[in-house]
Amino acid sequence: MFEHKPRPEWTAAEVFLTDSVVHPDPALHRALRTAADAGMPAIEVAPNAGKLLQLLVQMAGARNVLEIGTLAGFSTIWMARGLPADGSLVSCEFLPAHAQVARENVDSAGLGPKVEIRVGPALETLAELAAEGRAPFDFIFIDADKQNNSNYLDWALRLGRPGTTVVLDNAVWEGAITDAGMDPVNAPGIIDALTMLGGHPRFDATVIQTVGSKGWDGFALARII
Ligand code: DHB
Ligand code: MG
Repeated sequence: MFEHKPRPEWTAAEVFLTDSVVHPDPALHRALRTAADAGMPAIEVAPNAGKLLQLLVQMAGARNVLEIGTLAGFSTIWMARGLPADGSLVSCEFLPAHAQVARENVDSAGLGPKVEIRVGPALETLAELAAEGRAPFDFIFIDADKQNNSNYLDWALRLGRPGTTVVLDNAVWEGAITDAGMDPVNAPGIIDALTMLGGHPRFDATVIQTVGSKGWDGFALARII
């Protein structure tokens, strides 16, 4: 795993913002605790980013959400909470053990009926979702293996519609986007994705840099044209 390096003051500010504004509830704390207990890496989005995802889902009026990269379901819970009563979310997870932890976390949060977690390589699951007619998705969050970022963006174009919101996590990666040698495994996939978001005629995008407990990173926010 690539080492992210938060500065103590960034983390302190994030804790203050989490406590004063974001207020994660026991179901979200449970998701973090069960992930740690299962030995999973603490690479979920920060609480303030999770709340941003929830608000974006609500603001987009999304009813059909796709997540690529479930982990323990922390971001899944945030986004599912932004759905209307008849909304649904499909999340793709490579590892069965992670999907099991996420399933329990989502169920504990009372969101079970809204959330489907599919296990396996996401590129296979995405093809299945297309074949099953589950598209179009209104909101797509990409937070999985960085090598496949541009493949996932390709799928977002196929499974989305004009106006679909696409959020891509880890868009700055401690600045490795301008020095791929810092992380030859992951940085090229992130750079490819940024090139696609900036150059493809069907994406209109921006990227926000962030600092906090997850180090120096950022997210891309795009709209399908
Ligand atoms: C890693 C992956 C992530 O999606 C993230 O937000 C932070 C770190 C990782 O693989 O190291
Ligand atoms: Mg991420």
